[in-house]
Amino acid sequence: MKILIIGGSGGIGLSIVEKCLQHYSAANVIATYNSTSPELEHPRLRWIRLDVTHEESIKKLPDELGSIDILINAVGLLHTIDHKPEKSIKQFDVDFYKLNLHLNAIPSILLAKHFEMSLRSKNNTYYIVLSAKVGSISDNELGGWISYRSSKAALNMAIKTISIEWKQKLPNCCVLLFHPGTTDTQLSSPFQARLPEGQLHSPEVTATALLNIINNSTPHDSGKFISFDGSEIVW
Ligand SMILES: NC(=O)c1ccc[n+]([C@@H]2O[C@H](COP(=O)([O-])OP(=O)(O)OC[C@H]3O[C@@H](n4cnc5c(N)ncnc54)[C@H](OP(=O)(O)O)[C@@H]3O)[C@@H](O)[C@H]2O)c1
Repeated sequence: MKILIIGGSGGIGLSIVEKCLQHYSAANVIATYNSTSPELEHPRLRWIRLDVTHEESIKKLPDELGSIDILINAVGLLHTIDHKPEKSIKQFDVDFYKLNLHLNAIPSILLAKHFEMSLRSKNNTYYIVLSAKVGSISDNELGGWISYRSSKAALNMAIKTISIEWKQKLPNCCVLLFHPGTTDTQLSSPFQARLPEGQLHSPEVTATALLNIINNSTPHDSGKFISFDGSEIVW
């Protein structure tokens, strides 16, 4: 078994790497980082540097790695040093909007484009993309965060579209969008103060929830937008 985790250096990604090594005791895990080379070492773990904004780098990977049983994309961006998510339209900045698309939406489309053949198998395979509930249009009652929300909504539409195309081409592949819930990472840290008690998960809890969802999903579930508690999220 081979598992590829894109963004394995992130707060949630690293916990997914650890849980996969524990849970799938015979699996080889390949994980990517961009800026930070993680310290985690394991005989069945290999780290690769990958910048997901560089299509040529993504394109080279499938030839090198061969078939993949589970592909998880845990890359994402909510804020930078210069930009917090917008509270009002006056704060809208074109470059920040593009950056959100480049990190939250486009990489998962490129991964699907280049790993299509790697995920084609007689056995069940999984393509799991980390999204966010704030990307749900129906659920949007608060407004704000226009760049992040838009990029996750674009991601959701793209992955839903890919799941429909793959029902024919890759009938054994289960494509899922996963909402991790607010998880204690650098991405959410500036926004944790006013959370109701009990609503902040550790990355370990989030990773365990994701593995439970994978274990309980089949290609029949392909195209779903699923929350950490297993419930489906409205589009
Ligand atoms: N945390 C939450 O509360 C929460 C809630 C809802 C949804 N999510 C979603 O869950 C996912 C993971 O979030 P997180 O909290 O784990 O975030 P995080 O700790 O900030 O991790 C972000 C990851 O993205 C990688 N990354 C950034 N730029 C990259 C690039 N150009 N190329 C390749 N990798 C790049 C980082 O790699 P390096 O560190 O190596 O640069 C890191 O692995 C995201 O999609 C996020 O939107 C999170």
